[in-house]
Amino acid sequence: MDAKHRIDIAGPLLDWYDRHRRDLPWRSKPGEIADPYRVWLSEVMLQQTTVATVRPRFTEWTQRWPTFADLAAADEGEVMAAWAGLGYYARARNLLAAARTIAAVHGGQLPDTEAALRALPGFGDYTAAAVAAIAFGRRAVVVDANVERVVARLFAIDTPLPAARKAIRAAADTIIPDARAGDFAQAMMDLGSAICTSRRPRCLLCPLNHACAAQAAGTPEAYPVKKPKAVRPHRHGTLFWLQRGDSVLLERRPDKGLLGGMRALPTGPWRDAPPLFADAPVEAAWRVLDEPVTHGFTHFTIDLTIAVAHTEAASNRGEWWPIARLDEAGLPTVFAKAADVVRRRA
Ligand code: ADE
Repeated sequence: MDAKHRIDIAGPLLDWYDRHRRDLPWRSKPGEIADPYRVWLSEVMLQQTTVATVRPRFTEWTQRWPTFADLAAADEGEVMAAWAGLGYYARARNLLAAARTIAAVHGGQLPDTEAALRALPGFGDYTAAAVAAIAFGRRAVVVDANVERVVARLFAIDTPLPAARKAIRAAADTIIPDARAGDFAQAMMDLGSAICTSRRPRCLLCPLNHACAAQAAGTPEAYPVKKPKAVRPHRHGTLFWLQRGDSVLLERRPDKGLLGGMRALPTGPWRDAPPLFADAPVEAAWRVLDEPVTHGFTHFTIDLTIAVAHTEAASNRGEWWPIARLDEAGLPTVFAKAADVVRRRA
């Protein structure tokens, strides 16, 4: 693509952004200087979660920990609990590790180049590029799922994903302007979210329809081309609700592995098939509920049978948590769902 085409895209896209940009709590107002802490935090949260979910969570988080220094001083358990429902906990652990590095090594300031950012915990190619562009105005190739779709359509890239990623990045690089790089990145995201949607894109309203190869071919929905999806395996397990008075037994999951380090209801092993009942935390008169809890993780789905028992004995593992305050335990979604089932059915 030549220089003229590049101008042809950035100009109308930025004009459109100036009129239609979403007002989001991590975005600076036009003319304002961006806050790197808020940009970074929002990008990490948004990697796995929708804008609608992130909005209130971002606001709560920044009220509690408004700066790198506040987050660097936070208790790890509290940070992990505050992350519940926002995706992989490794991200929360990296968030805290990065905040501590920034406080200890970088004088509380985020480095302002893509290369220096990439050296921090949890900064992959995407986060480093997004933060460099949005927080510091650096020209960088910022490609998330929305941008991927817009670019695949603009250039009618017909290699299936994920193999197409290299070509998509190369094509994106040809249209990114030197000025307003952060606005351009966010304009592509907003365009993907409001106009260039996966299904039924609104091409008539699109500021780039004059330059779009997929729209010219009349098949925008065909892009990006995807490889057929592998079926997620389905697993089974047992989850134990052990009650003592008004409290329930919670454990901390091992640091390594799924939901590592999180507070949880005890479970047995997660297997590919029933039988299910194994590894109860104590001997007790376990009663199995007839409603399992079903949950979808990224790489598998699971049915957990719920076993309920009451005990008088203290347990030498875990902690007794008041059931009335279970919302404050920061339980991952699968366990919060199980608690709801128990409340309804036990
Ligand atoms: N998704 C990821 N980053 C975003 C941003 N800065 N604005 C809107 N959506 C996003």
